[in-house]
Amino acid sequence: MKFATVFVVVLAAVLGACMVTAQTHNYFFGSRIPYDSLVNQTTVIQSSSFLRVKSAYLDYPLKGQRGRNITAIYVYDRLGSGRGGYASITSGGIGKNYTRINLKTQRGNGMNFQVEIYGR
Ligand SMILES: *[C@@H]1O[C@H](CO)[C@@H](O)[C@H](O)[C@H]1NC(C)=O
Ligand SMILES: *[C@@H]1O[C@H](CO)[C@@H](O)[C@H](O)[C@H]1NC(C)=O
Ligand SMILES: *[C@@H]1O[C@H](CO)[C@@H](O)[C@H](O)[C@H]1NC(C)=O
Repeated sequence: MKFATVFVVVLAAVLGACMVTAQTHNYFFGSRIPYDSLVNQTTVIQSSSFLRVKSAYLDYPLKGQRGRNITAIYVYDRLGSGRGGYASITSGGIGKNYTRINLKTQRGNGMNFQVEIYGR
């Protein structure tokens, strides 16, 4: 009885998590703090390509420019319906003054990510 209850709760949690991720592939790294500000906002769009995975890199700051201390990186999936891609930080990032973000599509899908970088 108790066992069944635990199972149902766990199942509900797993299903809930799947349903959330099935809709949007948003990624939130770090968190905003007082007096930080938006230091770069970029939209990265790639069309889908049959059976292919496409990858794009986003660098902050631009070459030769000074970067602010990064507090948060918010990646919004504008494709939705579970077709959005994946985002990861491959170098630098939170607490650093530079970052490189890798954006990847799911196989056979495109991407439409809005990336917001906050720093202080
Ligand atoms: C933000 O980053 C993108 C990609 O590196 C770049 O093309 C754009 O010029 C940057 N915008 C600003 C305001 O620095
Ligand atoms: C990051 O900070 C270090 C130490 O303050 C500085 O030497 C470096 O030039 C900075 N890099 C960028 C990209 O702003
Ligand atoms: C960025 O800010 C964090 C938190 O305030 C701090 O620990 C870190 O040393 C800072 N990094 C740089 C490069 O200023």
